[in-house]
Amino acid sequence: MKKNSFKINVYDAGDVASISVACKLASKTLDYLESQVRVGVTTKRLDELCEKFILDHGGIPACKGYQGFPASLCTSVNSVACHGVPDDVPLQDGDIINLDVVVNLNGWHGDTSRTFPVGTVAQRHLDLINIARKAMYVGIEAIKPGSRFNDIGIAVSRYINSKKGFCLIKEFCGHGIGRQMHEEPLVLHFPISKSTSLIEPGMCFTIEPIVSCGSSNTIQMKDGWTMVTTDRSFASQFEHTIFIDEEYRPNILT
Ligand code: MF3
Ligand code: CO
Ligand code: CO
Repeated sequence: MKKNSFKINVYDAGDVASISVACKLASKTLDYLESQVRVGVTTKRLDELCEKFILDHGGIPACKGYQGFPASLCTSVNSVACHGVPDDVPLQDGDIINLDVVVNLNGWHGDTSRTFPVGTVAQRHLDLINIARKAMYVGIEAIKPGSRFNDIGIAVSRYINSKKGFCLIKEFCGHGIGRQMHEEPLVLHFPISKSTSLIEPGMCFTIEPIVSCGSSNTIQMKDGWTMVTTDRSFASQFEHTIFIDEEYRPNILT
């Protein structure tokens, strides 16, 4: 592993193989949890299942204890934009829930999240989920030889802005990942005016836009974690960890 002039880690093939195994476990954990999402299940139960699944597969749930986070899984229901703390409230028909998993396997991290519908969900909220998923893929597909991080932000925000009634929550961003859950750089989902780094082979980072169908701002709940949209409109997020190969192509690891 070496660092470029912008302090972004550049990983060799062996490192990427290790990160990839961690990412595969994170993704498998989400597949498993998806099968457990239903009306009546509590987010605490999903958290327990998540922790057991990761430990049973030789990993460590990286969120637990991260800056004091109390659980293995972020469970963000309805108007919770992100960092929802699992609790004893059962999921209800019509809810949407984002599950965000970070696995540490042999000292390497994989980070991924998806939003799932619970029972029968309003069409507007199904639209929200589909727009959030597509926004992530638009960001991934924006990466070409010669791209800068700003090109991801341009593409994601242009896509979301084309959807009337939906907006990007700019307060949260993607990030480099590897030995640490959060590394340089910040991966913004909107453009900035100052110059950003070139995206180069060996870089490993997440793209994880959060889309709201109302307010683009959030407030933190008293638990110090749960971030809720100010107008309590629903929000949805998807996240992949990707790495950039020698041909400058984004490879989805999760
Ligand atoms: N998974 C989140 C991310 O996408 C981070 C979770 S914060 C934690 O970056 F405290 F829950 F770990
Ligand atoms: Co992340
Ligand atoms: Co995450």
